[in-house]
Amino acid sequence: MLYSEKVMDHFRHPRNLGKMEDADGIGEVGNAKCGDIMKMYIRVENDIITDVSFCTFGCGSAIASSSMATEMIKGKPVKEALALTNKAVAEALDGLPAHKMHCSVLAEEAVRAAVKDYYDKNGIAQEP
Ligand code: FES
Repeated sequence: MLYSEKVMDHFRHPRNLGKMEDADGIGEVGNAKCGDIMKMYIRVENDIITDVSFCTFGCGSAIASSSMATEMIKGKPVKEALALTNKAVAEALDGLPAHKMHCSVLAEEAVRAAVKDYYDKNGIAQEP
């Protein structure tokens, strides 16, 4: 099979799907080649990501990647979310086909963009 059961599961039943009202950070990224867009919302309390949600206009792998990414950063310190890699997301999904790896990159970038937005809004200097 081309896609793992986990990919299919997260594609069919995305976790934390939807817009978040008054999020503390919002990140929007896109892939110019395929045109897919991903938006990630985070709520932060005491440096912990207490809630996260996403909207993805894109392929099944992008939806599964964003769904998995939200589960991986929920309840985690902001710094840990920043360290999330697309590789880790793909591994947690039991792999993605090689030509679909870029879809998981969107998830990594969306999380980063949301954290950056949170940092910017709160005047927190981002470590290099
Ligand atoms: Fe564009 Fe998957 S094909 S993100």
